[in-house]
Amino acid sequence: MPLRVGICGVGTVGQGVLYLLTKKAGSLDQKQDCSPVVTCLGMRTPRPQVDTTGLIVFADVLQVAESPAVDVLIETMGGVDDAKTLITTALARGKHVITANKALIATHGQALCQQAQQAGRSLKFEAAVGGAVPIIKVLTETLANDKVTSIRGIMNGTANYILSAMARHGTSFASALATAQELKYAEADPAFDIDGTDSAHKLCILAALAFGTAPAFDQVTTEGIRKISPTDILLAKKLGGCIKHLASAQRHSNGYTLQVQPRLLPKEHLLAGVNDAMNGFEVVSEIAGNTFYYGAGAGALPTALSILADLTSILNLSGNKAAGGTAFGDSRPQRSTPNTASDGHYIRLTAQSTRQATDRLQHILDTHSIQPKAHATASSDNATAVITENTEEQTLQKALAEVARTLPTAELRHIRFG
Ligand SMILES: NC(=O)c1ccc[n+]([C@@H]2O[C@H](COP(=O)([O-])OP(=O)(O)OC[C@H]3O[C@@H](n4cnc5c(N)ncnc54)[C@H](OP(=O)(O)O)[C@@H]3O)[C@@H](O)[C@H]2O)c1
Repeated sequence: MPLRVGICGVGTVGQGVLYLLTKKAGSLDQKQDCSPVVTCLGMRTPRPQVDTTGLIVFADVLQVAESPAVDVLIETMGGVDDAKTLITTALARGKHVITANKALIATHGQALCQQAQQAGRSLKFEAAVGGAVPIIKVLTETLANDKVTSIRGIMNGTANYILSAMARHGTSFASALATAQELKYAEADPAFDIDGTDSAHKLCILAALAFGTAPAFDQVTTEGIRKISPTDILLAKKLGGCIKHLASAQRHSNGYTLQVQPRLLPKEHLLAGVNDAMNGFEVVSEIAGNTFYYGAGAGALPTALSILADLTSILNLSGNKAAGGTAFGDSRPQRSTPNTASDGHYIRLTAQSTRQATDRLQHILDTHSIQPKAHATASSDNATAVITENTEEQTLQKALAEVARTLPTAELRHIRFG
């Protein structure tokens, strides 16, 4: 008996899933006893390019959740409230659910997973993080018997594309964003991607799976990339590194820190080599040590492929009856304040002249006993920058406050290093 599939939301990813399941179905057929068959679409706006031959098409997606012709509902609509109602209804009607929706899982993942467990159905979301990169499987299966201590990654292709374009062409943030929009890497409203919300959604899902807690989106400290200037990109390069938008989750003895922020990495770091719209994930765990995962983080077919991987997991369940859901822990993560950690720092000062910027920065570093380990200037921009040795957060904040107070017209930029 084939596994009957309903797809709700037939946009970029939904069409990718439909294409792989209908036009490329042969590869799945050969491997499975009971091949998946698309029976229904939930499509509120008719799309002439979608071939609906032989399919039941509902304008109201809830009818897919109610349909007796569906065993697995694939949610590829996005958004939170309607998607939550849809998935809750589908699970209540005994369907397995697969979703690509990180915003939904980051905010309601725990309650939905609990509902799935109680209903004995699967709720799977490999496509919600990392596109074709199987990072959810890594955390829930490959490293399930290890203790993950940290995850760092480039999880948003749009922000990474913009920073890569700025580094490659020396262009401004605004111009790199405009190019990303022309190439459809960025939405007309890019805020979700460039201000770090999208990465924060993904990070909180990964952190919850790695640390056995509930997803806690409100605990992610988030800083976007709008303030990164061509001067910072140039100085980073002169200092032997590059600026990336990193999402990081760290386990500490007294809790966790979850952060999305620009970070200057040495150019030898594996994450420094993740360019354009690609994603990369570095996971550190006690037994495996450092492992690294890289690939296309978005796009119709890479994302659809991860949805099909979830479909395969559901097919592999015995008799298609047992729940194979990805479960989160119950507790909220204990937030650990980042200022207990000590990092290296990139500090850039732009003043009336390069000389003024350099002298002032040097003086303040000396006053606070902060050791510089590298130094560079951009004379055409009257800017100077240092990378410091590891420095306690409190000391750093005092020094930055003093720069701002004693040189109020200067432009000051601080980015964490390493
Ligand atoms: N695009 C990617 O590369 C990618 C990668 C990983 C994960 N995802 C996730 O996949 C999901 C879909 O993304 P997408 O890029 O495919 O979006 P999309 O191209 O905008 O498609 C979404 C589709 O869902 C429909 N839809 C949205 N809200 C709906 C609602 N409340 N009721 C009924 N239909 C609704 C839209 O219909 P209308 O045309 O009527 O608006 C549209 O056809 C999102 O959760 C996204 O975060 C996307």
